[in-house]
Amino acid sequence: MLNETTAQVLDLLLAKTRVSGEDIAFKLGLSRTAVWKNIEVLRRMGYQIASLPGQGYSITAAPDIPLPQEVRRYLEPSHLPWQVEYMPQCTSTNTLLKQRAIQGAPEGLVLVTDHQTAGRGRRGREWQDAPGNSLLFSALLRPSLPPAALLPLTLIMGVAVGDALMSLGVLCQLKWPNDILVGEAKICGILTEISGEIDHTDFAVVGVGINIRSRPELAEYGATSVDEHVVPPVRAQLLAAVLGEIARRYGEFLAGGRRDILKRWESMSATLHRTVVVHTPSGDITGTAIGVNCEGALLVSTADGQDVVVNTGEVSLRHRKHE
Ligand code: BTN
Repeated sequence: MLNETTAQVLDLLLAKTRVSGEDIAFKLGLSRTAVWKNIEVLRRMGYQIASLPGQGYSITAAPDIPLPQEVRRYLEPSHLPWQVEYMPQCTSTNTLLKQRAIQGAPEGLVLVTDHQTAGRGRRGREWQDAPGNSLLFSALLRPSLPPAALLPLTLIMGVAVGDALMSLGVLCQLKWPNDILVGEAKICGILTEISGEIDHTDFAVVGVGINIRSRPELAEYGATSVDEHVVPPVRAQLLAAVLGEIARRYGEFLAGGRRDILKRWESMSATLHRTVVVHTPSGDITGTAIGVNCEGALLVSTADGQDVVVNTGEVSLRHRKHE
């Protein structure tokens, strides 16, 4: 995280192609030495900053760090007031954002980090990363709908993140409820956590982990990364693209457009028309996945001719060659 003064110096540098040390000192009420020290902090973070005598400072290259200043450069205007906070390291962005939500943080707060020491996946699993190799963030939503109406939200977030990856050229598919795959390999996981009472939602935290750069463990887990498919953009740009899609789909959902989004989910699905085994709390269900209903539940047609509605569970896809 940048201290306030360094962040202000960065804002001034990003606002213009060139800015003099004198201007920065005047605008921020700093000495020229203090300006220089803050420029050095930015350089140590990886910013390349040219300084020409008499002409001032200009940024010639930026590091791949999803700082709020960098994300703002790529964010399209949207109805959600995104406010990004970056931490080099934290326990889990979902855990921290839930704490902030309980303390009253507003809708649109986003926590993003380079590394989690206690990253969490679905069903109590760990989510491990190697520092700087993933995009790891959580976004806070405060929908004015009861929790039961939010069941499709997790699928809708899969559509949003999947479409952002598609826009980069990553040909991904969705596995129910919301894993994102390329072929059979997982490229992204989403953990949506909702807090509230039966008739009122306090908040929803949407946590997203996208593998950006490959590392040996990914293959061991049957996972893949963005750089195995396209040249990855900087993480600030990817985060802005994903937040843009989340805002768009969330707005459509609140305006009653869930049917169309779930149609999109079906068209991006790796699960449909395949033989699946769904591991549910009440046992395994084997059959062909035939669709999702309005609540986001998976519909499975079993060999004995029944259509089963699956609200919760873990899907194993049978290999296509066995089908
Ligand atoms: C899964 O596939 O099981 C979901 C993984 C979700 C991981 C992301 S990384 C950012 C956010 N913080 C967490 O602790 N988890 C989510």
